Amino acid sequence: MSQSHQDRIWQEGINDLTIISRPSGREIRASTGDTYIDFMSCSYLGLENHPNLISAVKSSVDKYGVQYAAARTRAKCDIFDELESKLNSIFLDSHAVTFNSVGAAHLAVLPLLGSGELPGYPVSESGIVWIVDKTTHASVQTLRGILEQFGTYQRAVFSDEMALVALLQESAKQKKTPILISDTLGSMGGATDVKSLTDLANQYGGYYYADDAHGTSIIGKNGCGYALNTLGQFADNLILLSSLSKAFGSHGGFASFSNSEAAFFVKKYALNYIFSGPPRSRESLPVWLQLIFTCRKRSVNYRTDSGITFFTLMKLSQMLKSKKNQVR
Ligand SMILES: Cc1ncc(COP(=O)(O)O)c(C=O)c1O
Repeated sequence: MSQSHQDRIWQEGINDLTIISRPSGREIRASTGDTYIDFMSCSYLGLENHPNLISAVKSSVDKYGVQYAAARTRAKCDIFDELESKLNSIFLDSHAVTFNSVGAAHLAVLPLLGSGELPGYPVSESGIVWIVDKTTHASVQTLRGILEQFGTYQRAVFSDEMALVALLQESAKQKKTPILISDTLGSMGGATDVKSLTDLANQYGGYYYADDAHGTSIIGKNGCGYALNTLGQFADNLILLSSLSKAFGSHGGFASFSNSEAAFFVKKYALNYIFSGPPRSRESLPVWLQLIFTCRKRSVNYRTDSGITFFTLMKLSQMLKSKKNQVR
């Protein structure tokens, strides 16, 4: 379906840029010799160039080598425990499990959630209904075949509240547990009303699985992000997905749960946690957290120091503005 669109952007030469250096700030130099100002990167705070992070990554390589090639179930570097406990406190006393990517977190968590085995997230004996917003990121939608092994998969337009409520009423009639899934700040546009969705899911005895990849760190106390800043506390029926590779300025993704047993369960039973290697750049993450604490104290100055540009702010403000125009 996307073939004609992909063909067109290739023909127009606006894809497939090869970067050979990053001279300063948001400048990128391409192999063609052209230099561009980068409007495209999702590093909304420009943190990946911060000298403290760069030196932390170097010291990580000195300490552990380029990688430690084992699944964390067998053995892990000490830094992961430190990282997860810091994430837990920043993300409003939730319980995090880190992964190589947000996509890997989806693959690990969604089947366990659908199975009804995840502690603190029980499902009805009659089963579940996945209710997935149409614009949810492809990393969830490609799992449809897997998710359908656990329950019915319904696509919906979450901005159409009446249609959404009709699906919830139908799930209640069938005595099924609804699991709502959406991006919070959509990569395909729009911003989600996370409070209403969490409340609606709760009202029908279900869960809200919120992908806050683009909202992570951009706002909120200590960078707790768009979803938690909106909610004010971590709801019992929430599963939050966050990115470490966008505004956070590092690499990877993580899932946060309302209870520690759920996080432990994922580490024990999610196949791609048990059998996959650890995220990279681990040493940089606690340094990042330090930076964010400083950032919150120094607010605007930090943003200027760390290289955030006017354009990045524009991109973010467009996403947030669309919440006003298009609360979904
Ligand atoms: C909303 C959303 N979720 C998930 C992802 C996938 O993230 P990752 O590359 O860490 O798998 C993206 C990528 O941009 C995204 O925009």
